[in-house]
Amino acid sequence: MERPRRLRQSPAMRRLVAETRLHPADLILPLFVREGTTEVIPLSSMPGVVQHSLDSLKGAVAEAAELGLGGVMLFGVPEHKDAVGSGATDPDGILNVATRVAVAEAGDALVVQTDLCLDEFTDHGHCGVLDSRGRVDNDASLERYREMALAQAASGSQLLGLSGMMDGQVAAVRDVLDSNDFDETPILGYSAKYASAFYGPFREAVQSSLVGDRRTYQQDPANRREGTRELLLDIEEGADILMVKPAMSYLDVLADAAALSPVPVWAYQVSGEYAMIEAAAANGWIDRSRAIHESVVSIRRAGADAVLTYFAAEIARSL
Ligand code: PBG
Repeated sequence: MERPRRLRQSPAMRRLVAETRLHPADLILPLFVREGTTEVIPLSSMPGVVQHSLDSLKGAVAEAAELGLGGVMLFGVPEHKDAVGSGATDPDGILNVATRVAVAEAGDALVVQTDLCLDEFTDHGHCGVLDSRGRVDNDASLERYREMALAQAASGSQLLGLSGMMDGQVAAVRDVLDSNDFDETPILGYSAKYASAFYGPFREAVQSSLVGDRRTYQQDPANRREGTRELLLDIEEGADILMVKPAMSYLDVLADAAALSPVPVWAYQVSGEYAMIEAAAANGWIDRSRAIHESVVSIRRAGADAVLTYFAAEIARSL
């Protein structure tokens, strides 16, 4: 008789044959930085996650470095928004200032990454700019992304996270970086990013002004093959790392990506995934720390080389 249970008989044996492990270096912590605040502002839909001030950001980055995390991903929450998202390209805009602060604090300890997308900065809340009929204008948005890429690279961002889902965004940003002496700045392509209900709490986190949805540019959750198409395009356009997002409802897409990609593949355990675990745990319905660990292990097992997760610091502490 085959007896697979032989390898499950003790904690030491199980640890020895574990195929997937979590390590702090494979975890990236997303951080929100709010303009014009000196307070740390808690987010009701994401218990334990806050909007940082520039000052508290320093402490968060220092802690992430101390814990040995692979990196932090910065999101800016500006005081003022407009139709073209001017704050995103202003060198004194919150995300660019926060990047300089984080890079100074982190030294060589971790990789400071920035979200390259207009939605936090536009008054209509879309990831791009709108045309005269109110539709998201792909190619005009690319022009803004090129400007945003230069502003972020000049601020010292060590990895640009292109999350806007415009066609051609990786090629456009690669081109502008290369022709401005930023050929060493790498690009993380949010290649397969789906129009997901699980971004709900994030919208509170960045005080999104979005009315409607992003379904004309983010992918339909029904589509797996289309995920492959997007991933291949980003590889061709020169992405250094690919991302699948959200993570837990898209493990098939992630496994496809891991199988086909010659570059690293990451996954983003998004705000709604975090909130679901926290809410169920708060009700006593699941074992919180086991659920956190299992969720991130499953994302790694499906093929993610690294994971963006709001649990990053906590997991690192527990290892
Ligand atoms: C776009 C962006 C979003 C998230 C990360 N980058 C929001 C969106 O696409 O609607 C969501 C992350 C999360 O839910 O944790 N700037």
